[in-house]
Amino acid sequence: MASISPLSFVSSVNASAIKTSSSSLFPKGRQSHVAATKVSCNASNEEASNGIAHGNRRDVLIGLGGLAGAAGFAYNPFAFAAPVAPDLQACGLPTLPAGAKPVKCCPPASTKIIDFEFPKNQPLRVRKPAHKVTGDDLVKYKEAIKAMRELPDDDPRSFTQQAAIHCAYCHNSYHQVGFPDKDLQVHYSWIFLPFHRWYLYFYERILGSLINDPTFALPFWNWDHPDGMEIPSIFTDRRSSLYDPLRNANHQPPVLVDLSWNRNGPDTSGDVDANLSLMYTNFVEVKAPLNFFGNAFRAGDTPYTVKTGAGTCESVHNTLHTWSGDRTQPNGEDMGSLYSAGRDPLFYCHHSNVDRMWNLWKSFGNKDITDPDFLESNFLFYDENKNLVRVKTKDCLDSVKLGYDFEKVPIPWAKTKPKARRTKAERAQKPLTTKSVDLPLTLEENKLVSTVVKRPRRSRSRKEKDEREETLVLEIEFDRRKPIKFDVLLNEEEDAQFATPKNREFAGSFVNVSHTQKSSALKTELAFKIGITEKLIDLEADDDDSVVITLVPQYGDGVIVKGIKIDYEDC
Ligand code: C2O
Repeated sequence: MASISPLSFVSSVNASAIKTSSSSLFPKGRQSHVAATKVSCNASNEEASNGIAHGNRRDVLIGLGGLAGAAGFAYNPFAFAAPVAPDLQACGLPTLPAGAKPVKCCPPASTKIIDFEFPKNQPLRVRKPAHKVTGDDLVKYKEAIKAMRELPDDDPRSFTQQAAIHCAYCHNSYHQVGFPDKDLQVHYSWIFLPFHRWYLYFYERILGSLINDPTFALPFWNWDHPDGMEIPSIFTDRRSSLYDPLRNANHQPPVLVDLSWNRNGPDTSGDVDANLSLMYTNFVEVKAPLNFFGNAFRAGDTPYTVKTGAGTCESVHNTLHTWSGDRTQPNGEDMGSLYSAGRDPLFYCHHSNVDRMWNLWKSFGNKDITDPDFLESNFLFYDENKNLVRVKTKDCLDSVKLGYDFEKVPIPWAKTKPKARRTKAERAQKPLTTKSVDLPLTLEENKLVSTVVKRPRRSRSRKEKDEREETLVLEIEFDRRKPIKFDVLLNEEEDAQFATPKNREFAGSFVNVSHTQKSSALKTELAFKIGITEKLIDLEADDDDSVVITLVPQYGDGVIVKGIKIDYEDC
């Protein structure tokens, strides 16, 4: 793994050496708080299209990024680290999907970057469920968004610029510090949760400052509770600043959210029990941090390889994007496509709940990832005073330290454990007949595929199970421009109707939200992982040598399954 920790601001000779060396030393005592350099993001089209800025500007920025990567460590000449970081200097035009209006996503220029410091003497901001936001709170929220919409487009706090942040970090505008040919993608890996937490942190503080209320807190779309399982009505008033016309017209209240929505199926209102069961499956029993957060993504990594992949939290969140966006738009805009999602105020409210899931998951006794490359990964945001701030993942692990928390509301899904459709005895009466199939195989809509996967271990002790989560790993390739979903079932082979989260046999769903990156590299690979320790116990299948896996393609053709295996992930 290449590391990005140059000794100092480097010359172009050093810069190229850094790209290829397999390790480097950390600088001693280089901890400047304000790294002064002219930062400009108005890359020309040519720069944007090849993703590389030229000459000295870039060298200086590599130096900056190296500082960013290393500053959190005590000086240790033998340490290796490769936290990912965006290269603002080389920010360019995004690669947009067909039919999208051209937009620029890079933030305005700044002459300096400051390192994040925790806010002092701030009142705690308490985020409330959006369906309970009324009265004064609602007036303030609408006022704040209205004020944000009224800021000129080139103000980094403006509605346009805030929306563009999401586009820049997921549509190929940013490349990685030290790796000009590597895109930065904040989805499908462990940086998903910290990136979005920081994004909302600044968004919330900007809104608060626009209405002069330091207690202002971003509501959360409480889609995990029956009372919150519809688009919150505060977003549907056409005269309100919270309204966005580009949403699915069939999914307006009182239609319930369907957390396992099948885009091509009958578009019925969601089922509360199915939603709660799905929440249980994805949030209660997943213990291994990498299965919850997503796979590692380090500096120099290429997005979309089988090393990457979303965790359960991101996967569940994906369906709400696709479900909310306007299907009559070319790419499901706004929520249904990553470049445009930030244009809908609902997006931030949705992510506020995603962020809450992180806190809840930890409240169940689970732990954050401790890998330094996770902790040191860093991002850039403008704050409420228009300062460009560099933030690190390690500073956002505790939301209360950041000055906000969530109102405690009941979580009925914590106890909604799905039931096995068939007991072991029932399975014995009609035994599974699936044989293992040859890979790779290509999924076609509505055609089920079953195969047998050998388990390296069976009947592990409780201690072993608690230490390492048995994990089903699907290595897949797909076209990321398409919305895609397939469900994964355990010890089922018969019928797509059994693909409901209400059954214990339902293991999870792979979901892709439409997006593009480099048009020349549409091949998207990743590992989709599902923790199955508890599921196999409940299916009375923990003593079996193998497990039958059935893939149920729901929408989006052409997923190539290249590998299916069982692995063990540290808890
Ligand atoms: Cu950056 Cu909900 O996605």
